[in-house]
Amino acid sequence: MTGVLVTGGTGKTGSALVQLLRGNGVPVRVASRAPAADDPDAVRFDWEAPATFPAALRGMDRVFVVPPVQSLDPLPSVGPFLTEAQRLGVRRVVLLGSAIVLPNAPGALELSAQVRSRPGGIVLRASGFMQNFLSPHPLGERIRRCGEIRTAAGDGRLGWVDARDIAAAASALLQGCDAERDHLLTGPEALSYPDAAAIITARTGRPVRVVHVDADEQAAGYRAAGMPAGFAAALAAVEDGIRAGREEQVSTAVEDLTGRPPRSFAEFVREHADEWAAVGPMPAN
Ligand SMILES: NC(=O)c1ccc[n+]([C@@H]2O[C@H](COP(=O)([O-])OP(=O)(O)OC[C@H]3O[C@@H](n4cnc5c(N)ncnc54)[C@H](OP(=O)(O)O)[C@@H]3O)[C@@H](O)[C@H]2O)c1
Repeated sequence: MTGVLVTGGTGKTGSALVQLLRGNGVPVRVASRAPAADDPDAVRFDWEAPATFPAALRGMDRVFVVPPVQSLDPLPSVGPFLTEAQRLGVRRVVLLGSAIVLPNAPGALELSAQVRSRPGGIVLRASGFMQNFLSPHPLGERIRRCGEIRTAAGDGRLGWVDARDIAAAASALLQGCDAERDHLLTGPEALSYPDAAAIITARTGRPVRVVHVDADEQAAGYRAAGMPAGFAAALAAVEDGIRAGREEQVSTAVEDLTGRPPRSFAEFVREHADEWAAVGPMPAN
């Protein structure tokens, strides 16, 4: 049998990818720590449990890799997985990487380099997800509960991308024979947090204000939302780079790979307008 093992197959990008591949008749295996009992294609998979790797990989010739979330060093778990994939004859690996390099996280860069250097290895460097503006992401949760965005990024801009467009690009790459090893995936335009707040307000009628904080305050907020301390600090530090304009990049890769322009933030907001309806107050932090 051949097919695609989709790690993170229950997440935002992975689940959209599973749907696209199934729609094209491609056999998929949906990896999850808690595989759905009613899905015959679901398989137990845990980055923390290497013993789950061989059964998930066996018979699959392609893999979509969503590295462990909120990890500063994915290499110790993903490295052995890639070795096992190679041993079992996987011919294509598409890695969901990030356009933004977290400070003090050389493992993520090393992982991307390893994937690019193996035959059939492709790295997607995804910009910030539009879905971060939705709950349960801390950013989206604060908008929903408080009508507020806290940011240390000032007016710095980012090429926000819809996770579904990342899935569409991955789907094309997992079904084609594209030779490019690296793709920067962004939406159609770069927007600041104040730009995004203004679009949400205009399209939903829900006023969203922007509160400018420094990176330390931002890290404390992320920790209070449950992120590991090191990851929270790194994520907050990234906002300094955004403020300085270092992440203001827009590419044509989504359209180049899929033949369709990426969704705009305004379209994304229109589709999700109900999700920003006001609810009760947020716990103090
Ligand atoms: N958010 C952004 O702005 C952004 C930007 C660039 C790159 N990224 C990258 O995108 C990835 C997240 O993608 P996403 O947002 O589509 O995912 P997501 O919606 O956050 O879902 C996380 C997925 O990872 C799986 N998972 C979590 N812990 C796991 C473990 N220990 N073993 C195996 N699977 C595990 C979950 O599956 P189960 O719970 O079913 O096991 C779920 O399918 C991260 O690697 C992040 O670095 C994010």
